[in-house]
Amino acid sequence: MSIQVSSDPRAFRAFEHTGWNAVSEAYESAIGPLTAQSAEITLDAAGVAPGCKVLDVCTGHGVLALAARQRGAKVCALDFAEAMVAAAHRNVPTAECRQGDAQDLPYAENAFDAIVCGYGISWWKCAACFAPEVVWRSVFGNDRHQTTDTEF
Ligand SMILES: C[S@@+](CC[C@H](N)C(=O)[O-])C[C@H]1O[C@@H](n2cnc3c(N)ncnc32)[C@H](O)[C@@H]1O
Repeated sequence: MSIQVSSDPRAFRAFEHTGWNAVSEAYESAIGPLTAQSAEITLDAAGVAPGCKVLDVCTGHGVLALAARQRGAKVCALDFAEAMVAAAHRNVPTAECRQGDAQDLPYAENAFDAIVCGYGISWWKCAACFAPEVVWRSVFGNDRHQTTDTEF
C-alpha cells in the first residue's frame, strides 16, 4: 500500500476534504458511538448550559451539537465536508449547521459563549499553528473552549 505524502497545505486539505466526504456514512455508524462517549465531559469542561451559545467546530455528524442541544444550548455546527454537514443537519435539525473551514471560521467576533471541538484538530495540516488557544481565543475573545483529540 502506498502512502500519499505532501507538504502542500492545499493538497493536504483537498485530500482530507475528499476523504471525509467519502467516509461520512461509515464514520457515523462505526465511530460515532465511540466519540459520543466523550460528549458530556467535553460540554461540562466548556461550561455548556441552557441558553448558552455554542459553536461545535469539526462537528462531523453532529455529536457534540446534539448533546449541546439536549442541554438547551443554542448551537452552531461547522464542518468542511458537505456530507458531514448534511448528516449533522439530519441529526440535529434545530442546530444551525453550515459548511466552512475550522482554520478560517466564518463567524463574527464574540459570537459564542463556548466553543467545542471533538476529535477535529488532528486533521488540520498544521495543528500546532492553529491551536484553539491561539485561533479561537483571538477570534472570539473568550476563555470557554474545549477540545477532545487523539494523538497519532
Ligand atoms: C474525527 S471527525 C470528528 C467528528 C465529530 N466531532 C465527532 O466527535 O465524532 C473529524 C471531523 O473534522 C472535519 N474536519 C477536518 N478538517 C476540517 C477543517 N479544516 N475544517 C472543518 N472541518 C474539518 C471532518 O470533515 C470530520 O467531520
